[in-house]
Amino acid sequence: MRILAIETSCDDTAASVLYNGTVLSNIISSQDIHTAWGGIVPELASREHVKAIGVIVAEALKQAGTDMNNIDAIAVTNGPGLPGSLLVGTQFAKGLAIRFNKPLYPVHHIEAHIYSGYLENPGLSFPSITLVVSGGHTGLFVVRSAVEFDMIGSTLDDAAGEAFDKIAKMLGLHYPGGPEIDKLARAGNADAMAFPRGLINHESFDFSFSGLKTSVKQYLQRHPHHRIEDVAASAQRAIVDVLVAKTLRAASAYNIGAVTIAGGVAANSELNKRMRQICETRNWMFVSPRNAYCTDNAAMIGYLAALRIGNNVQPTADFRINPTSIRKKSAH
Ligand code: KG4
Ligand code: ZN
Repeated sequence: MRILAIETSCDDTAASVLYNGTVLSNIISSQDIHTAWGGIVPELASREHVKAIGVIVAEALKQAGTDMNNIDAIAVTNGPGLPGSLLVGTQFAKGLAIRFNKPLYPVHHIEAHIYSGYLENPGLSFPSITLVVSGGHTGLFVVRSAVEFDMIGSTLDDAAGEAFDKIAKMLGLHYPGGPEIDKLARAGNADAMAFPRGLINHESFDFSFSGLKTSVKQYLQRHPHHRIEDVAASAQRAIVDVLVAKTLRAASAYNIGAVTIAGGVAANSELNKRMRQICETRNWMFVSPRNAYCTDNAAMIGYLAALRIGNNVQPTADFRINPTSIRKKSAH
């Protein structure tokens, strides 16, 4: 089965073609326009999607060596995300589905992140423990099958990526701040400041990053001559410590020896290194998707649609966007 997938939930316009779950093309256009504003401006994001979507979909088809007549199904992110951005992708997909008479599958953006470890390595077994850490979401999941997962923990305030972005902004760095902090931290001393590790000893699998944010802010006010590399390294260490501790504790508690990370923050080099090292010592499988499958992309949307189609999930005629939905329990 050949699937065309479209993703426009936030500030990346993305399209991908997959053949039986294998990625043939994965095209993405990121919107630089937001950098000057220090964060995403929703109205600008949807306008940029309108400009890019036709070109990006055409390029995905071209690189896959195919055209709409040879596509069997269309998958598109219908939420959560920015309503105006979601509308561009979903309406484009709906138009293609009507024009070419193809079935249309809505895909939940966070669920697609959850399964991106399986996109990277289809040999990854069920069940797995998956940490999803993006700009908008932070959650821990027990993934039981292609259609069944439980969210066992989530952030009580900021998402991990949001914490990276807000701290980066305080340091005068560009948006998105995560990659900038990652880079600077390599030249910094991670033990220079003891920033708080929210809820690290709490028995739940929930997260909290607002205390860290406040602590960094106060530190910067009190120490105008700080070394930016040290602040970046210490803040990153505080975030990574909590993410690693909770994920590995979940794997032990549920007796699951397969761990994956996903979402934009999963591209973080320290998070990857620490998770890999500890999983290796415990003889657990660890799958870290390549960066192109961690940050927002359409390949993960097409892959989850393919998994679900294989599990008899039906296309939809009554198609709606769902900007705010986060499922707390199983997918079905
Ligand atoms: O999944 P994603 O591309 O978009 C959302 O669905 O939110 O995640 C974007 C987030 C941003 O907050 C960005 O700063 C963060 O992922 N990020 C990183 C790194 N690369 C991206 N955070 C830490 N280290 C990185 N290397
Ligand atoms: Zn995302």
